[in-house]
Amino acid sequence: MFSLPAVRYLPETADHAAAIEAIAAEAFGPGRFARAAERVREMSPHDENLSFVAIFDGVVVGSVRQTPIAIGSRACVMLGPLAVRPVYKGQGVGRRLMALAEAAARDRGETAIMLVGDRAYYMPLGYRPLPAGSVTMPGPVDPARILGLPLVDGGLEGLAGRVRSRG
Ligand SMILES: CC(C)(COP(=O)(O)OP(=O)(O)OC[C@H]1O[C@@H](n2cnc3c(N)ncnc32)[C@H](O)[C@@H]1OP(=O)(O)O)[C@@H](O)C(=O)NCCC(=O)NCCS
Repeated sequence: MFSLPAVRYLPETADHAAAIEAIAAEAFGPGRFARAAERVREMSPHDENLSFVAIFDGVVVGSVRQTPIAIGSRACVMLGPLAVRPVYKGQGVGRRLMALAEAAARDRGETAIMLVGDRAYYMPLGYRPLPAGSVTMPGPVDPARILGLPLVDGGLEGLAGRVRSRG
């Protein structure tokens, strides 16, 4: 793997919205709106201060978003979608976006991140499966794909219940 030195990483702003939507359409197709994680994002807007874009030559080539949520009585951040344009895959852009997202959540005092995704990609980044049946999403989801990252000691403990908007 080599990295693209000219890629810049910035917090997301409203100007990036159209490009991010195009990347999500390319990565996930029309079925993306049926995903349980998308249902959560319809309940709560993502937080641009916890969301990042990768920019190459003035063009958005990757994006990660995070949404403040609650699981049961615990505050948590839901990460996703994460997507990198196909031509730019395999060059560390995804991992760098993941690192920025984690650091931003940590800096904000969040205690855990959850996501729905591939174990093979996220477990090397420290994510671990949440106990089957512990977290209920507002739509069908493969429980084996619900993963969590503690940002403090015990950050995943007691993370159980229905995913809902915060506040
Ligand atoms: C997943 C994704 C964001 C990774 O972005 P990326 O910039 O290519 O990732 P990185 O370059 O940081 O890491 C690439 C590594 O992850 C691996 N990888 C990519 N997708 C993977 C997956 N689904 N499962 C396991 N490993 C995966 C690659 O094989 C590569 O491994 P290597 O470093 O040993 O060669 C990108 O492939 C993508 O947009 N995919 C389509 C959308 C998607 O699946 N999003 C994630 C939702 S679960």
